Amino acid sequence: MSEKFQENVTVISQKQIAAGVFDMVLQTKEIAAHARAGQFVSVYSNDASKLLPRPISLCGIDREAGTLRLVYRVTGEGTGTEEFSKLQAGDTIKIMGPLGNGFTIEPGKKAFLIGGGIGVPPMLQFAKEMKSSGAAEFQTIMGYRNKETFLLDEFKEQGEAFAATEDGSVGTKGNVLDAIRALNLNADVIYACGPTPMLRALKAYAEEQNMDCYVSMEERMACGIGACLACVCNSTEKDAHSNVKNKRICKEGPVFRAKEVEL
Ligand code: FAD
Ligand code: FES
Repeated sequence: MSEKFQENVTVISQKQIAAGVFDMVLQTKEIAAHARAGQFVSVYSNDASKLLPRPISLCGIDREAGTLRLVYRVTGEGTGTEEFSKLQAGDTIKIMGPLGNGFTIEPGKKAFLIGGGIGVPPMLQFAKEMKSSGAAEFQTIMGYRNKETFLLDEFKEQGEAFAATEDGSVGTKGNVLDAIRALNLNADVIYACGPTPMLRALKAYAEEQNMDCYVSMEERMACGIGACLACVCNSTEKDAHSNVKNKRICKEGPVFRAKEVEL
């Protein structure tokens, strides 16, 4: 089992990068050194009335500097994410991680790395790991609502990157599958993170095209470490832990083979 740590970490920087979307860098002691793309951290509120931590994916991992980058959307007033967005350099916050399984590269298989909305951030660290491993060719396809295509320039630094926007302001008008079809792109394996309708459509597309497909799933969480079963999703096979057709997204996931889970 991979090691996890609870730490009080210091905010190094925080900036807004799109409407309601914030980019925060944290100095950790151990977590960054043990983390990989597709994993997440539980971020605790400094407000005692908010007991449960908020799961946030790792958008960036600098193992040497020991820093983690989190890119997250504020979900509303009075929420934990709104509190996080007000943190400034020098402030401290409690986090636990790294949590979950993360992405595994399939060597030699040409890959699509696909993100939608607030599922875009974790794909950036994975693109960096794909590039530095040199294990397979890949293209990134990111889906946004409008011209606020946060992180897209950084995907372009990693290799071939495409965008789809709902309003057609950048890239292909439509969703990520519209972009794949319009640009006539091909791959052997899909790795994706984003809203459930997008993951469902990608699972169906992968089955139709006979491709492998891995999806990073999201569910409300409580413990974040596999103890409470708050985060289960329906699986196609019985889970070894619970002996029912369930999988814990925080523990067995958040990344699953699409054919293992019901979407
Ligand atoms: P509140 O309404 O104050 O939250 C109340 C409670 O509900 C909290 O315990 C909160 O954790 C839980 N909750 C509410 N919505 C969600 C949700 N969608 N998923 C899980 N728990 C929820 N968001 C990002 O913006 N960036 C990311 O990189 C990111 N990565 C995630 C990775 C994983 C594995 C999961 C499961 C979720 C991720 N999310 C991410 C979603 C993020 O966790 C929620 O938006 C956040 O917890 C909402 O908290 P809040 O304080 O804004 O809202
Ligand atoms: Fe408790 Fe997943 S959040 S088991």
